[in-house]
Amino acid sequence: MSVLIKNGRVITASEDYIADIFVEGEKISAIGRNLKANADETIDVSGKFVFPGGIDPHVHLDMPFMGTFSSDNYETGTLAALYGGTTTVIDFILQTQGKSLYSALDEWRSRSDGNCYSDYSFHMAVTDFNDETKKEIKDLIYKEGITSFKTFMAYKGALMIDDRQMIGLMNEVRDMGGLVTVHATNGDMIDYLTAKHRSEGKLSPLYHYLSQPEISESEAAGRFVDMAYHTDVPCYIVHLTCEGALNQVRDATRRNQKVFVETCIQYLILDASLYEKDFEGAKWVMSPPLREKKDQATLWAGINQGLVQVVGTDHCPFEWKKKLMGEKDFSKIPNGHPAIENRMELLFSEGVDKGKISLNSYVEVTSTNSAKIFGMFPQKGTVGIGSDADLVIFDPKKKHTLSARSHHMNVDYSAYEGREVNGKVETVLMRGNVAVHENKVKIGKGYGKFIKRGKASKII
Ligand code: URP
Ligand code: ZN
Ligand code: ZN
Repeated sequence: MSVLIKNGRVITASEDYIADIFVEGEKISAIGRNLKANADETIDVSGKFVFPGGIDPHVHLDMPFMGTFSSDNYETGTLAALYGGTTTVIDFILQTQGKSLYSALDEWRSRSDGNCYSDYSFHMAVTDFNDETKKEIKDLIYKEGITSFKTFMAYKGALMIDDRQMIGLMNEVRDMGGLVTVHATNGDMIDYLTAKHRSEGKLSPLYHYLSQPEISESEAAGRFVDMAYHTDVPCYIVHLTCEGALNQVRDATRRNQKVFVETCIQYLILDASLYEKDFEGAKWVMSPPLREKKDQATLWAGINQGLVQVVGTDHCPFEWKKKLMGEKDFSKIPNGHPAIENRMELLFSEGVDKGKISLNSYVEVTSTNSAKIFGMFPQKGTVGIGSDADLVIFDPKKKHTLSARSHHMNVDYSAYEGREVNGKVETVLMRGNVAVHENKVKIGKGYGKFIKRGKASKII
């Protein structure tokens, strides 16, 4: 199969030019002006952008969590990702405390294998670091291509590890050449505030927000960054939301420490006033919670300062009836919101179209930087000869409105209902095949393959 894409405006992390792209099999084989090639299919994309396929490094598909499962499984979640221009996702395996990392890997494979539309990979969340777990790290990196290890400083009693385990894990991951990532909020502080609010009968979604103040995040981010500095391990903070936490990272740069930072689309464009909508606020109950407008400004600036390298989603949807489990007690609302399909279009509309970030930055934070940090570059994350032909043809002029009535995510509400966006994903190629075109899927379930990853580039 070969495809010739004519007259596209090709955007990479560093370039912006008009060209034709010739795709043979799964790879890009030529890029140039007026390419003459005998292609099976020719697509003229004049006036459209060609971006590298989006990479969302923070999704939770079919994940057991807070007494239920996230409502998008690997089939529905990766299909929705493709509709939204994301061609690779990195999902989280959660170790069960008391069990091995490999038993968790087996469990996650039993749900994901053969079910994906987009390509996918896994981070391994270590929730119980001990002498047995330690022995598994090397094989996960070298045999399985799982090179990033997630830690939780919160969700006390379920996923949280203490600082002793954190330091032990960091030392082992450093020795084996991996990366430690973190959900950085202070689990004890949140636990205390949650219990206090519940005992006072303060049970609405607003108290989810008030139980996780900014300082619970900035304190944990600073502690994590210090432990990473002490152990000299490459480190990455997931879903960073606020000024205080980003300032901890800024401080670390003064000692020439590199800390990779991911924020998520919701923290750039939504704010905590949504928690004042009584129980409807449950739609946005997530951890950390939405913050203030001043934090949004800090995060946009952080992208332009090079302090924030990645914009993901933390896609973790729950149907409304599941959110209702917490109708009488905010601490029982399953945490998370749906966004896997919306990230690329929302960031273009709110970021590029409104002049907050450049087109090149857009490509960096939606694709290239994740590919580099998580060891997939240049197979993924760029438009280049020899790279996988994961390409998004994007119409910057097409306006449309986001809604649960038209989205493909398996969830009965949209966190962005009625929001008008400028720009639309029109066609998506995945490893050389047209996967989505004009709102129709062209590939089958199981096309998406597991991507074994290499080591992180220390400098991106
Ligand atoms: O609310 C969230 N973020 N749910 C998913 C789990 C996590 O903390 O990333
Ligand atoms: Zn988290
Ligand atoms: Zn998450």
